[in-house]
Amino acid sequence: QSAIARSSSSSTYVRARAYSSDSVPERKVAVLGAAGGIGQPLALLMKLNPLVSKLSLYDIAGTPGVAADVSHINTRSEVSGYAGEEHLGKALEGADVVIIPAGVPRKPGMTRDDLFNINAGIVKSLCTAIAKYCPHALVNMISNPVNSTVPIAAEVFKKAGTYDEKRLFGVTTLDVVRAKTFYAGKANVNVAEVNVPVIGGHAGITILPLFSQATPKANLSDEDIKALTKRTQDGGTEVVEAKAGKGSATLSMAYAGAIFADACLKGLNGVPDVVECSYVQSNVTELPFFASKVRLGKNGVEEVLGLGPLSDYEKETLESLKPELLSSIEKGIKFANQS
Ligand code: NAI
Repeated sequence: QSAIARSSSSSTYVRARAYSSDSVPERKVAVLGAAGGIGQPLALLMKLNPLVSKLSLYDIAGTPGVAADVSHINTRSEVSGYAGEEHLGKALEGADVVIIPAGVPRKPGMTRDDLFNINAGIVKSLCTAIAKYCPHALVNMISNPVNSTVPIAAEVFKKAGTYDEKRLFGVTTLDVVRAKTFYAGKANVNVAEVNVPVIGGHAGITILPLFSQATPKANLSDEDIKALTKRTQDGGTEVVEAKAGKGSATLSMAYAGAIFADACLKGLNGVPDVVECSYVQSNVTELPFFASKVRLGKNGVEEVLGLGPLSDYEKETLESLKPELLSSIEKGIKFANQS
């Protein structure tokens, strides 16, 4: 009898282990710029993610406090904080996913391109360290202008001999989050069920939500679609103006960044059919980088999906965004190769 009891309890134990966090792979996520407006709530959301086993928080200053604070939350991951460049290597070592919200945000009247002079240099130095300390990590680029910082990262990795186009992502999830929210409001449908792909890039007119493919379907007028498109493109500016000099979107961006990082982790862990929009190296159009739906897998990008059928308005808008997006890409490439 005791033998039966022992064997049943040991099989229960095995089953319990199979479903506990012990069976979820170890994953280290590093957040660079973790003490900032986006970095702090993003650190919180990543601490709540059960797929993360190590959470590494890096900033040039202020990270010990954020790390101590977040580390008291009783969830799976072990938290470490690193402040100052001399600790960047340690922060990155062994990272599976690196999220980069480091750099200055916009103030009223600024475009994302106005941030180029400061953020391009920050991204370049952080990516140089990524190439050295965690060359196989998936990189989630949040720092603006994303249209240029992703090409900068690609050039830095190419120079270091570590570039893998499957592992570099511009985070455009906030555009998707906004498109979903605004569409649900206008179409009067349950926001939790809404899907809207957003393609192109991540700045002003380069952001192109495909409302013709939005689900659930709704009969919106051309005027409504145009207004929704414009609001999605200007969503960031709406927040910048409301914050009146105190920065740009941080809370909604942290949410969007956490969704995208979670999708990357699921892909790495072999969860099938994980699809998110992202700005990646692409041949969906003639532009070398372009945002569209991407299937995520064990190596990062598994497949860059096509655009699907576009309405006449979307076709026209797509053509008109290409020159600006191309010039932002070229600006990034030029910067990376010049300095
Ligand atoms: P913030 O100024 O509040 O925080 C930025 C943080 O980066 C600061 O803590 C700063 O110390 C840190 N930092 C600066 N240089 C660094 C370096 N070399 N290494 C590590 N950390 C460094 O700015 P916020 O609001 O968090 O925005 C960060 C970036 O995210 C901006 O470039 C902003 O434009 C961008 N952003 C992107 C969005 C997107 O959809 N992709 C949406 C909203 C903002």
